[in-house]
Amino acid sequence: MGEAYDPTTIFSPSRELAARIGNQKPRQKTIPSSSFYRNLEDALEVKKKSHTFYSIQQNLWQAAESTVDFISNDILSFGTSGILKTEYLKELSRYDQHNPGAPGSRLAEGNYAYIEETEQHIAKFHGAETALLLASGFEANVAIWTSIPRPGDVILYDTLVHASTHEGIDQSLAGERESFAHNDIEDFRRILTWIIESNPLIQRGARSVLVAVESVYSMDGDVCPLQELVDAAKELAPSGCVQFVVDEAHSNGIYGPQGKGLVCALGLEKEVAIVMHSYGKALSSRGGMYLTAYIRAMYTHSQNSCHPWKRDNQIYAPELRTNHHIHDCTFIRIGSTYPNRIQAVRVGSWKTGNHSLHINVQGDRSLTLYKAQAQVHDLVDFFLQSIISHPLWECAEQTGLLAIPLLKDWEGSPTATSHIITIRTRQQYTYWLYFHLLLDGYCVFPVEHPVVAKGESRLKVTFHAGNTEEQVSGMVTSIFAWIQEMMEIEGSQDHAQRISVSQAAHKVYTWMAHEGLTGFGMPASMVRY
Ligand SMILES: Cc1ncc(COP(=O)(O)O)c(C=O)c1O
Repeated sequence: MGEAYDPTTIFSPSRELAARIGNQKPRQKTIPSSSFYRNLEDALEVKKKSHTFYSIQQNLWQAAESTVDFISNDILSFGTSGILKTEYLKELSRYDQHNPGAPGSRLAEGNYAYIEETEQHIAKFHGAETALLLASGFEANVAIWTSIPRPGDVILYDTLVHASTHEGIDQSLAGERESFAHNDIEDFRRILTWIIESNPLIQRGARSVLVAVESVYSMDGDVCPLQELVDAAKELAPSGCVQFVVDEAHSNGIYGPQGKGLVCALGLEKEVAIVMHSYGKALSSRGGMYLTAYIRAMYTHSQNSCHPWKRDNQIYAPELRTNHHIHDCTFIRIGSTYPNRIQAVRVGSWKTGNHSLHINVQGDRSLTLYKAQAQVHDLVDFFLQSIISHPLWECAEQTGLLAIPLLKDWEGSPTATSHIITIRTRQQYTYWLYFHLLLDGYCVFPVEHPVVAKGESRLKVTFHAGNTEEQVSGMVTSIFAWIQEMMEIEGSQDHAQRISVSQAAHKVYTWMAHEGLTGFGMPASMVRY
């Protein structure tokens, strides 16, 4: 590769982006003799050809000092501020009798008072009766849906629920699964009415409808109209046969008093049957917890139900899978193998939730959890305000060059936005804007099919307590510099210029063309076959 095409001299943070795109390049076929390896290689080649091959390399936002993190899950900045580490070490020293080791599954002598205490604290904190700790939010969702629904129950889910909920629902014992249009109360009412009318067992109160929603949807950052859904369910099924399961992965730490989540913010603790909290987002750690409003039996049931795992019939029951994962949680108390898990459960949630923790997010500026929460919401407001007050905003919006779907509900509703904002542009430009922001030092996340539906790509921007107004202003300036550039390109009468790409995209595509790479919005005119 000649010097002119060295990605480190062309764009920055370069190596990681170059590696990410470069890894899509089909490999020289090695033609392994075994069908096993051949089939795996073929499957990877298919992904590479559609540019959906994910490879692991260093984080873009950590790769260069000058890059700004608008992408990580460290929303309250507990991780980057160092507070998590400090509190973890304090916690570990308080429980120094715990030694690393493999204690066995929780069902088989691997249960400890520490885990139970933590669960009780967290349940109390969220106003729930019981809490069950698992190794991740993903596993908590799978555990809920594989163990709670009974044969003949119906599951009604929002079309945009997370993959882990789908995974659990697919394996559940429920007799029927239906979906309603995303956040659409009318559609929810229509389908729920139809479910009730067509199910004599539900009408008689012998079976239930379980509704799956998320308080904040991860790919758009929009908030569930939970109160309205609960009210509609009560009106249509006053007998209580409709129950809600709310995934609070993205609202934990962000919404409600002390970051207790949307259910607590709305005072719906007794109306929602199960709430799932993940510690892998705002609390910057790992672990999942599910909380039940009333029924202790639900907790016990989920540990004891004998829903045979489909393939192995009786031998590998999901609750054993679940408890196998709980086994991981024993590391929470001993800490050294998965130290941040202690943080997640004991410190990150319970203590910060009880506002005893003063976090220092920005240098010497001491922020409490409340302030960190408020800072995130303030930055989002500041970003949206900066966007709509920019002189190019109206024209950019009208011409479809820029859209921020959450803006329509923003003013007047304190819960209309979260820490996640998505930016849309014309589909073919998504990567151009992404490259532009990245080369200016702003790391956002390009979301594409298969994460979202085909033709719905967008840039996901995640705000953190540790971000500053200056950084947000800088990103807005960068966005509009790109808009200006695109307006000039689109408005040009010069045919040669009309087909040109933005400068940042041109840099990346020049390197890609030299490497024989395609995709990522690269126009056919630049492809070098
Ligand atoms: C809505 C939602 N639920 C559950 C999960 C899984 O949580 P965890 O990362 O703790 O496994 C995620 C993760 O991205 C999520 O976005």
